[in-house]
Amino acid sequence: MSIRNFSEDTLTAEVLRRMENTQDPRLKEVMTAFVKHLHAFVREVRPTQEEWFTGIQFLTETGHWCKDGRQEYILMSDTLGVSMLVDFINYGKTAGATESTVLGPFFVEGAPDLPLGANIARPGTPGEPLSVTGTVKGTDGKPVPGALLDVWETGGDGFYDVQKGEGTNLRARFTADADGKFHFKCVLPVSYPVPHDGPVGRMLTATGRHPMRPGHLHAILSAPGYDKLVTHLFVRGDKYLDSDAVFGVKDSLIVDFRKQPSGEYAAHYDFVIKRSGSK
Ligand SMILES: [Fe+2]
Repeated sequence: MSIRNFSEDTLTAEVLRRMENTQDPRLKEVMTAFVKHLHAFVREVRPTQEEWFTGIQFLTETGHWCKDGRQEYILMSDTLGVSMLVDFINYGKTAGATESTVLGPFFVEGAPDLPLGANIARPGTPGEPLSVTGTVKGTDGKPVPGALLDVWETGGDGFYDVQKGEGTNLRARFTADADGKFHFKCVLPVSYPVPHDGPVGRMLTATGRHPMRPGHLHAILSAPGYDKLVTHLFVRGDKYLDSDAVFGVKDSLIVDFRKQPSGEYAAHYDFVIKRSGSK
């Protein structure tokens, strides 16, 4: 067979053959699967030239929308369910350990370290006041003293600080005390739309989907010797729990946010983290 006159049936094998000398075995595995699936997708869809170019334009535009405070590719991955799939594969499920969920596009490295009890919401931030308490434990039930809790959320207006460009707000890091306990103040999470004024928003609209996420508080828990846990606490009763635009809801992460006689809301959650290397 000539190695120049490829057909729809022989081209894929030739592309794979040319990558046979890839030195890195994992890269070879990834690229081989990528080419196979991409070719299979094109064979199934049989795009016109115009359609293929529309796809390329969509990806190009998605890249152009990425800037500080806006990561359109994470949004695409989240809304197509890929972020949760990667999460399922990597974090898995460990008996007794708190479940993980998506990181989302609004985490910011290096949030301020605040003392236990501090309010992560600047004065004047919209939203109902909320007090959060809890502990960090291992799967053996013992507290994890000094565990680091990184939290972030939107204000009552449904926007993260990075979307408003008004400096750091509604995000902080707390260190659990000697008993693994933590407490801090913030605002009651509200349901909010993922940013939908860009290409991902057009995709959601075109496929008949809404952009809403149920109210949630983001948390990352970490401690030496333990796997990092990326998770949320969801507000029980939120009307978007069954149709989260990024598929992140897990029953075990739905929590009561109860209004107290003082008018302040309160939520409690005991996080259970797992030792590194445990299944
Ligand atoms: Fe979020």
